[in-house]
Amino acid sequence: MSKRSPLHEARLLFKPELPAVFAGSAVQVSTGAPTQAATDGKEISALFPKTYGSPMVSFSAKERTEDDKAVSVGVILSGGQAPGGHNVMSGLFDALKAGNKASKLFGFLGGPSGILDNDAIEITDKLLSTYRNTGGFDIIGSGRTKLETTEQFDRCIEVCKERGINALVIIGGDDSNTNAALLAEYFAQKETGISVIGAPKTIDGDLKNESIETSFGFDTATKTYSELIGNIQRDANSAKKYWHFIKLMGRSASHIALECALQTQPNITIVSEEVLAKNMTLNEVVDEMARIVIARAKNGENFGVALIPEGLVEFIPEIKSLIAELNDLVAHHADEFAALANVDEQIAWVEKHLSAEVVGAFTSLPKSIQSQLLAERDPHGNVQVSLIETEKLLSELVAEKVKAAGHGFKVHHHFFGYEGRCAFPSNFDANYCYALGQTAYQLIASGLTGYLAAVKDLVKPVGEWQPAGVPITMMMNMEQRHGEQKPVIKKALVELEGGPFKAFVAEREKWAIETSYLYSGAIQYYGPREVSELTTQTLVLESNK
Ligand code: FBP
Repeated sequence: MSKRSPLHEARLLFKPELPAVFAGSAVQVSTGAPTQAATDGKEISALFPKTYGSPMVSFSAKERTEDDKAVSVGVILSGGQAPGGHNVMSGLFDALKAGNKASKLFGFLGGPSGILDNDAIEITDKLLSTYRNTGGFDIIGSGRTKLETTEQFDRCIEVCKERGINALVIIGGDDSNTNAALLAEYFAQKETGISVIGAPKTIDGDLKNESIETSFGFDTATKTYSELIGNIQRDANSAKKYWHFIKLMGRSASHIALECALQTQPNITIVSEEVLAKNMTLNEVVDEMARIVIARAKNGENFGVALIPEGLVEFIPEIKSLIAELNDLVAHHADEFAALANVDEQIAWVEKHLSAEVVGAFTSLPKSIQSQLLAERDPHGNVQVSLIETEKLLSELVAEKVKAAGHGFKVHHHFFGYEGRCAFPSNFDANYCYALGQTAYQLIASGLTGYLAAVKDLVKPVGEWQPAGVPITMMMNMEQRHGEQKPVIKKALVELEGGPFKAFVAEREKWAIETSYLYSGAIQYYGPREVSELTTQTLVLESNK
């Protein structure tokens, strides 16, 4: 056995708390009224004739009278790591074995490609016992292969039949669960009897809506980053000589930056959604940052902390239009672009082909950022925003303005993302994920398909949490993707009318000028419940609406 840290040993033995409805010997399922998508219902119902309109599902405890039918379930971890994935699997496994000891769980290796390659292992209690309550997805690995074509769907059917699998659980974000809904519909149309259930994963916190209060991993990741930000703030306030520009993961949405701001009260936090709503240019964003740096310098405080969401560049209108045009250009001339020998040739080629409206925005950027904008897209066609060094771009531009105003400006750069994705899940995420896994099993045992496992009332004590099943099609809308209208789960961006943003706006000018840092410290797994059971500010402020 490999050596483990004392905390690691202790976490393996942690027993997640259960919502009361799962604490009995069996579970009763109730269905509500048929559901509809909030927008584009007609188009979505036409695309999902078998699964559209399914009812919401809720659960209550009951006494077990007989075993559930034995099932074989395949599980897939999809996309970026998020703390708690191992607990979704543990909850699923424990519920499935409690339902019928003969039931089996298989884990497809390396993400969605594992099912296409028919590469899986059986998940046993022994294997799980070395992963319970730990971060990471290393038990079976993850990947970003998309399951979206008819050939892939047919291959999934073939592999499930070969292995006798009756249900798939896809643990993923909005794109992966969109594909889970397509797969569920295809399986239903082909009358395979194989159900597909999703679980809402992503540190980004952007898979949420009326029925999904938060995605798992957001709690642990934001607490991890907030600890690091607090440490940096204290260092800055001790030495009083550096600014720290910190880019935070989160892809498009700024939920992570906003939550960390509420937990740490830094001097500057940019919220991309506000930049877009106010139609701010890059120069205006930089002006606002420089205003704060200069005001603090005038008070003798030549230090500070700025939080920058990683998706920012996509929200600055002039760069957003540039990226859209670059995407089309590169997609429509893929062969010609691929034949260019190096980044200099790529930049020259792009400058020649961009329209007059956006070429200025491209040429005004430093070469490093130009080449990052031309880097390979991810499998979903998104710019890989985690590769763009926005924090350096902004600090270079801020430095010019601060120096022109006669002040010094020394800056360090950081990018927090990977640091938080595999942390030991907080008690919140450990409990939430375990409940999601149990919910996924109950949906399967009820023969349902095309649902996302959900748990509601998450700001209440765990015993009062309400597990539920939410039809994925009700979360969808039609969006332009790769030049076509597609049904997709609506990504939740920061709402400027929402509680978290309003709470931030009410305080931000004070945090900008005065030094009012909060130090949240490390995640507490044991000890007083006021610290070990804390949820995020986002969840609390959103639940007050
Ligand atoms: P998911 O949406 O797949 O959960 O990804 C989260 C994320 O961490 C983003 O915040 C980030 O932009 C991206 O993954 C980085 O991707 P990769 O792990 O492929 O570098």
